[in-house]
Amino acid sequence: MKDLAEKHLVLGLTGGIACYKSAELCRLLIKAGATVQVVMTAAAEQFITPVTMQALSQRVVYGSQWDARAANNMAHINLSREADAMLLAPCSADFIARLAHGLADDLLSLMCLARPIDRVPLLIAPAMNREMWSHPATRRNLAQVAADGGVLLGVGVGEQACGETGDGRMLEPDELLQDLIAFFQPKLLLGQQVLITAGPTYEAIDPVRGITNLSSGKMGFAIARAAREAGADVTLVAGPVSLPTPRGVRRIDVRSASNMLAAVMEHAPTASIFIATAAVADWRPEQAADQKIKKDGSGLVPVLNFVENPDILATLAQSSRATGGALYCVGFAAESHDLLANAQAKRLRKGVPLLVGNIGPATFGQDDNALLLVDAQGTRELPRDSKLSLARKLIAVIADRTRARG
Ligand code: C5P
Repeated sequence: MKDLAEKHLVLGLTGGIACYKSAELCRLLIKAGATVQVVMTAAAEQFITPVTMQALSQRVVYGSQWDARAANNMAHINLSREADAMLLAPCSADFIARLAHGLADDLLSLMCLARPIDRVPLLIAPAMNREMWSHPATRRNLAQVAADGGVLLGVGVGEQACGETGDGRMLEPDELLQDLIAFFQPKLLLGQQVLITAGPTYEAIDPVRGITNLSSGKMGFAIARAAREAGADVTLVAGPVSLPTPRGVRRIDVRSASNMLAAVMEHAPTASIFIATAAVADWRPEQAADQKIKKDGSGLVPVLNFVENPDILATLAQSSRATGGALYCVGFAAESHDLLANAQAKRLRKGVPLLVGNIGPATFGQDDNALLLVDAQGTRELPRDSKLSLARKLIAVIADRTRARG
């Protein structure tokens, strides 16, 4: 099932150079399964043509409230009632001012005012020059629009079409897509602080060599995204991986298991849920050499002594138990066989309420996985699916368990 399947969206374009990004946004929304009705202001039509938007959306574009194509001549009523949400991208400073005052002298502003306010949410992606963005009038108008129930999606920072640099760029189409998908997810973890470890660790032998493993971090990153979509405040402690940070997630990059433990200990006191997906190295070289160990031609090989790494999950689970179980801990087990027996044993050994088993070799680096959830109540299989879909299901189970705890 696509992320925006069965969603009908009104995509409103207002006057701004960021209109050129709206073509790509429209395509992404449709690829994600939505149907899209484009509505453009006269100013937007100065930047991009309705022809482009019609071709991409496969629907006639509306622009005027006097458009006689609607049989009842009430495009503003018809179009706003069909929608699951309205997204204004780009939304100009002028249009924000109109929204703040409830003006309704063109089709798009009329639709914003005429939409059923508790059934059709209004999402706003502002786009403007940085001075316009920081002007007190715009600040005031944005606050009013938010107070009236508008959902502000934020702006990007960087180079602007005018040549200046600062806040006010429209978010990139992919960022807006992610925000919209997140908007429609149930807010099961609202108010929760979720701490997640992901990826491998890297244990240095010398400045140029080390020991690591094949964990891609994809499952942990998918869980971070799903937790954020569910409304949680998310901190992701990531080993060395080259994955993009999910929208709205606080990411802390670490290298070794010791670094990971330190970052986790720093954030654990404020966390309510801890999910350990990282493939932490079990051992590290006792002493990392300061300089590269050279091959000297003698044929002698270096001898490495190892020491055991701290068990981050067991450490946190233990301190959570000592403080009455305030932190709900979830562990992962990557096994090659006997998943159920190994997962049950690991749950008890780690002292965690919920343990998630998966077959390591079948999932490393892949975009899909299958999970086996083991807790005191029994087991539950989540059959093979994308890591993001599984992550959302796992988050729903965790939300259920933590709610039950009160
Ligand atoms: O013992 P094992 O590595 O199989 O346990 C896996 C679970 O424990 C995972 O949740 C992993 O993130 C966590 N773990 C940890 N610190 C370690 C080893 C494993 O947090 N040193």
